[in-house]
Amino acid sequence: MVRALEIDRVGHGGVCTARWPDGRVVFVRHTLPGERVGVRVTEERGRYLRADAVEVLRPAPQRVPPPCPHAGPGRCGGCDWQHVDLAAQRGLKAAVIRDQFAHLAGLALEPEVLAMPEAPGGLGWRTRVRFAVGEDGSVGFHRHRSAQIEPVTRCRIAHPLVEDLGVTRRHWPRTTAVEVAVGVASGDRVVIVHPRGGVAPGDVPPLDAPAAVLVVDQADRPTSRHRGRAVVRERAAGRDWEVSGGAFWQVHPGAADVLVRTVVAMLRPRPGECALDLYCGVGLFAAALAAAVGPAGLVLAIDGDRTAAADARVNLRDLTTVSVRTARVDGRLLGRLPAAPDVVVLDPPRTGAGREVVAALARLRPRAICYVSCEPSALARDTATLATFGYPLERLHAFDVFPMTAHVECVGLFARGSDVPDVRGAPSPRGGTKYSAD
Ligand SMILES: C[S@@+](CC[C@H](N)C(=O)[O-])C[C@H]1O[C@@H](n2cnc3c(N)ncnc32)[C@H](O)[C@@H]1O
Repeated sequence: MVRALEIDRVGHGGVCTARWPDGRVVFVRHTLPGERVGVRVTEERGRYLRADAVEVLRPAPQRVPPPCPHAGPGRCGGCDWQHVDLAAQRGLKAAVIRDQFAHLAGLALEPEVLAMPEAPGGLGWRTRVRFAVGEDGSVGFHRHRSAQIEPVTRCRIAHPLVEDLGVTRRHWPRTTAVEVAVGVASGDRVVIVHPRGGVAPGDVPPLDAPAAVLVVDQADRPTSRHRGRAVVRERAAGRDWEVSGGAFWQVHPGAADVLVRTVVAMLRPRPGECALDLYCGVGLFAAALAAAVGPAGLVLAIDGDRTAAADARVNLRDLTTVSVRTARVDGRLLGRLPAAPDVVVLDPPRTGAGREVVAALARLRPRAICYVSCEPSALARDTATLATFGYPLERLHAFDVFPMTAHVECVGLFARGSDVPDVRGAPSPRGGTKYSAD
């Protein structure tokens, strides 16, 4: 049954909200605030419903024809805002950030989400793509909140180097997923094949362009390599980088540069300072921190992924003041650091750093923390925690590094307030040992 609803405001996660006749909230996809749409319910819960807008009865002025033929109700779940003009997408993301910070951190912000100059049309930017593979070997993307796969012929947000491979034009027997990572400056391409219970090398089909192929097991450990070294060479922040297949790298071609610039400008690391790069990946921020703190300073970079940390050691081998540690970031680790940092970069996965890590960081009493986040709700939650430990939010910047989707990247600066509660529980190690650089 299709029911007409008035759409109220944007919600978190690519939806807008409306009211069901009985007063319950409805989270509606494929619509915009101010529209009147015909909706079909996709999920009914006690206190709320989910629905797709399947008819547009009164369009918003920001509505545009989706550039992707696979976007729309019940189809590809990868993009949320294909039907929205790009500038308006940024407005929606700014509203989501504002609402999350008001709701979870009690802060009144008016953020602006900045456009990326690279890929200005919001298409052809995604340098890392994970394709889902059906039991029949056909390739596509998961439908929204579904295990079902929408077969696709091409992905409009994928970088042309990904598209050129023709992954979607191949048959992938006994495979559950195919990941592609490409380097824009180098032209390197890596394809990671996730087998459905074990794939013989002969099962990896030839592709339309050269690519190294890595077959991994269910724990993502490589089981075989074909057609070259499974490493993507990147260029960012004035340096060359090697990123092994599976290790993290920012997916938008302009993201690494803009995030490094923003973090350094906000944190202003000083010569001789100690800096901590938590969740360092292959070392992106650690290199910039090392340049800023200079030969008298020190940088400790930590990531839990062995592959990423090994890459970081290779990427940062010329920087003698940086030491890289493979470890899970948690309260215990932070409580055992050899010295307290002056400045911290924190770039956790989508779930955020969480209370334990935030509290342990506050105990170290850095003068400033720069928090990079692709999930505004996690950042807002951790912002509230940081404030209770004496680190109020000073500034926030946001970047549209995921156009056409509801995702957005934020960078927040937290500076130690003058009224820091005594959360140390032990004397501060400030002035004690510095990090060893080995
Ligand atoms: C968003 S990425 C950031 C990487 C890097 N800062 C960059 O911009 O390229 C998050 C990183 O956190 C790492 N990670 C996830 N959970 C972790 C944990 N509990 N402890 C340590 N590292 C973790 C992942 O391996 C990944 O490299």
